[in-house]
Amino acid sequence: MKPVRTRTLQSADAEALLTFELDNREWFERHIDARGSAFYSVQGVTDHIAAYLADFTAGTWHPFVIEDDGGNIVGRANLKGIDMTERSAEVGYRIAQNACGQGLATLAVRHLIQEAQLHWNRKQLVATVYAGNIGSANVLKRCGFLIEHISRQEGTEHECRFGLSI
Ligand SMILES: CC(C)(COP(=O)(O)OP(=O)(O)OC[C@H]1O[C@@H](n2cnc3c(N)ncnc32)[C@H](O)[C@@H]1OP(=O)(O)O)[C@@H](O)C(=O)NCCC(=O)NCCS
Repeated sequence: MKPVRTRTLQSADAEALLTFELDNREWFERHIDARGSAFYSVQGVTDHIAAYLADFTAGTWHPFVIEDDGGNIVGRANLKGIDMTERSAEVGYRIAQNACGQGLATLAVRHLIQEAQLHWNRKQLVATVYAGNIGSANVLKRCGFLIEHISRQEGTEHECRFGLSI
């Protein structure tokens, strides 16, 4: 694996994040829900970062980026919906197509678990994956998540809900 570091998203990331999201738009849309077209501009990404950082300040969301040694964003990972009452949170992640298969998502999910435990004092993590997303399910299983529920809604792809007690 090439050297990378995982750090909290910051306001100055707008251009690097736009490049990452544009370069991988078609790749992500094959696996996860598409973003609106307004997102794909400097203003759209600047607004997106501002919203995420406001949620970070409010203690409901922790957005991270994975950066290579050239300062390029090669992945993203989020702790979402941090819930103080339930002491739970949801994990989400996406890796650049040309950086896949090197263990980056596994690294990112392990980082999220550690942050959830040490920084946010969470007890339970959840993740939702489309049933056809074998790579993502592999990452979760490798990090200790177990399948809790499979939703089978008529006319939509099956979704698997994973959980991890920490
Ligand atoms: C899913 C995703 C995050 C995986 O990222 P990654 O950095 O390649 O993941 P890792 O290298 O840590 O591990 C992936 C594992 O799944 C395996 N894998 C990937 N695709 C697979 C497939 N179609 N069938 C079987 N195994 C597959 C890989 O071989 C690897 O296992 P290995 O290390 O034992 O060989 C990445 O493909 C991605 O960002 N996809 C688009 C967005 C997305 O799906 N996000 C997750 C939403 S729930």
